[in-house]
Amino acid sequence: MTYKNQKPSNKIFFIGAGPGDPELITIKGKNRIEEADVIVYAGSLVNPKVLQWAKKDSQIFNSATMDLDEIIEVMEKAVKKGKKVVRVHTGDPSIYGAIREQMDRLEELEIDFEVIPGVSSFLASAALLKKEFTLPDVSQTIICTRLEGRTPVPEGEALEALASHKASMAIFLSVHMIDKVVEKLMQHYNGDTPIAVVQRATWEDQRIVQGTLKDIASKVKKANITKTAQILVGDFLGNSYSLSKLYDKTFSHQYRRAKK
Ligand SMILES: C[S@@+](CC[C@H](N)C(=O)[O-])C[C@H]1O[C@@H](n2cnc3c(N)ncnc32)[C@H](O)[C@@H]1O
Repeated sequence: MTYKNQKPSNKIFFIGAGPGDPELITIKGKNRIEEADVIVYAGSLVNPKVLQWAKKDSQIFNSATMDLDEIIEVMEKAVKKGKKVVRVHTGDPSIYGAIREQMDRLEELEIDFEVIPGVSSFLASAALLKKEFTLPDVSQTIICTRLEGRTPVPEGEALEALASHKASMAIFLSVHMIDKVVEKLMQHYNGDTPIAVVQRATWEDQRIVQGTLKDIASKVKKANITKTAQILVGDFLGNSYSLSKLYDKTFSHQYRRAKK
């Protein structure tokens, strides 16, 4: 969508910066950072190294200390002066990014924008663990969720209710409540279910703690992991699964005939 009072080249780009390692930003996201006159980045989690590509004279704002009105004001003023503006979020902006409220305000102001996705931390964590969320005969479903904090979670999405599916799960924003997470999961998963906690995935100081539902809470406390961590849980972290149909030589599909 392009608004009538705005030059087409002058839209705001929301960019997913990825989980930490600056090389995990997309080429498109990096290109937009290189061109930007004004950058508003989520300084609490975005690796400042992604700003290495910014022009020397670009103006950089850290949204960690700003409220919604201030963020919108900075972006609105800049875009109306014809400046190129990027808004940098951690991981992928569509997951716990508080991006919707910004996009809605821009729409009200008739300011055009585009979203460039990023590598979410739950995907980076699976990559570090060298695991696949969707294993045949184990789980074909991934649940991304969190425990209630200052932001409430709708009743039907309580962790114990989601646990009843025994799907592969990625639990954000909850490691400081690891005892509560375990208690809720244990209502459905058995105590031997594998679980991993990945802190600051892909940053230089990343840490991984692995265990079972029975022992993970004590391991996490011993490691003193209290924030910026993914909790991945489910039998996809184990070693028992069926082989895929995709590469089964006795199975035909659109691109390959079965071998007898
Ligand atoms: C406000 S949310 C933002 C999530 C982000 N949009 C994403 O796609 O990863 C912050 C939470 O994401 C998780 N997180 C973000 N970056 C992480 C990383 N590098 N390693 C592990 N967990 C991370 C943690 O659970 C953290 O509390």
